[in-house]
Amino acid sequence: DWRMDSFVESSVKAIREKVGDGKVLLALSGGVDSSVAAGLLSRAIGKQLTCVFVDHGLLRKNEGDEVEAVFGPQGQFDLNFIRVNAQERYYNKLAGVTEPEQKRKIIGEEFIRVFEEEAKKIGAVDFLAQGTIYPDVVESGLGGESAVIKSHHNVGGLPDFVDFKEIIEPLRDLFKDEVRKAGLELGIPRELVFRQPFPGPGLGIRIIGEVTAEKVRIVQDADYIYREEIAKAGLDQEINQYFAALTNMRSVGVMGDERTYDYAVALRAVKTIDFMTAEAAEIPWEVLQTVMSRIINEVKGVNRVFYDLTSKPPGTIEFE
Ligand code: XMP
Repeated sequence: DWRMDSFVESSVKAIREKVGDGKVLLALSGGVDSSVAAGLLSRAIGKQLTCVFVDHGLLRKNEGDEVEAVFGPQGQFDLNFIRVNAQERYYNKLAGVTEPEQKRKIIGEEFIRVFEEEAKKIGAVDFLAQGTIYPDVVESGLGGESAVIKSHHNVGGLPDFVDFKEIIEPLRDLFKDEVRKAGLELGIPRELVFRQPFPGPGLGIRIIGEVTAEKVRIVQDADYIYREEIAKAGLDQEINQYFAALTNMRSVGVMGDERTYDYAVALRAVKTIDFMTAEAAEIPWEVLQTVMSRIINEVKGVNRVFYDLTSKPPGTIEFE
C-alpha cells in the first residue's frame, strides 16, 4: 500500500528528527495501537526506545507470551523490552473485591504503580510515547471503537508520574484501519494487527464478582476454546467482539456418575459498528454445540454454558 508505505517512511523520518539521540518510553499493552506505535518507534530509533509491558494476570490465555515473542529479545524488533509479571500483585489487590467499578479502579491504579516503579528504574527519559490515534483525539464519543474504549480507560494519570520532557504520539493522525495497514507494513503479525478489542482491565471485568487465580484460569481456558472454534468456523473477522465470561453462578450438574456443583460460563459475541450499540451475533448451532461440549469436557470447574442473546442496549458488551 503506497500510502502506508509513505506514512511509515515519513513518520520514521519525523520521529528521528524530533527524538534525536533522546530516550523514549512506551507502555506497551499488546493492543493494536501501542503495538504499532512500538513497531514504528523501533524502526525509527531502535534501542533508544524502551517498552514496558505489564502482565497483570488478566490477559487472555498465552497473551503475555505472545506479546513477548513479538517484541521481546527473540522477536524481530530492535528495542528494549521489559516485561513485568505482576500477576500476584494484582490478584492480591483484587482479593475480596466484587464491585465492578472498584475492580476497574484497582486495576488502573495498580498499573500506574507498576509502571511508575519501572519508570523510576529506567530514570529520566526525554519522551513518553503514546499510541493515541485520531479517534482518540476527537473527543466526540462518535469517533468509533477507540474513542469508546478510551473513555473507559483508567490510565489518564499516566504522564504525571514519569520523568519526561515531552509526549510523542506518532499515530495521532491515523484512523484504526490506517493503523492496521501501518502495522502490517512494519511486519507486526496479522493476528495482532487484526486483534479484536480487549478492555484494559482485561479478564478482571469478565469474571463477575471476585477475581481469583482459579477463576482466571477457567475463563482463560474457556475463552481460548471459544476463540479457536470461532476461527475454525471462519467467523473471527465477521464478529466484532467475542469472548467467554465467568458468571458468579454455580449450579448442579452430572458428569459420569458424579454430581457436580460448578460454574457457568457465558459466551458473548456481538456485531457492532461503533461499540455504542450492538446485536448478539448469530453463531451456527453446531459451532455453539462444539464450544459447549469442549468447554465442559476440557475446562475443570465448569458444568454449564450459556449464550448471551442480549443486545446493547440494554446490555453492555462486557459483563461489568
Ligand atoms: P461496553 O461493555 O461498555 O463495552 O458495552 C464497549 C467497548 O468498550 C470496551 N470496554 C473497555 N475498554 N477499559 C477498556 O479499555 C474498560 O474498562 C472497558 N470497558 C469496556 C469493551 O471491550 C467494548 O469493546
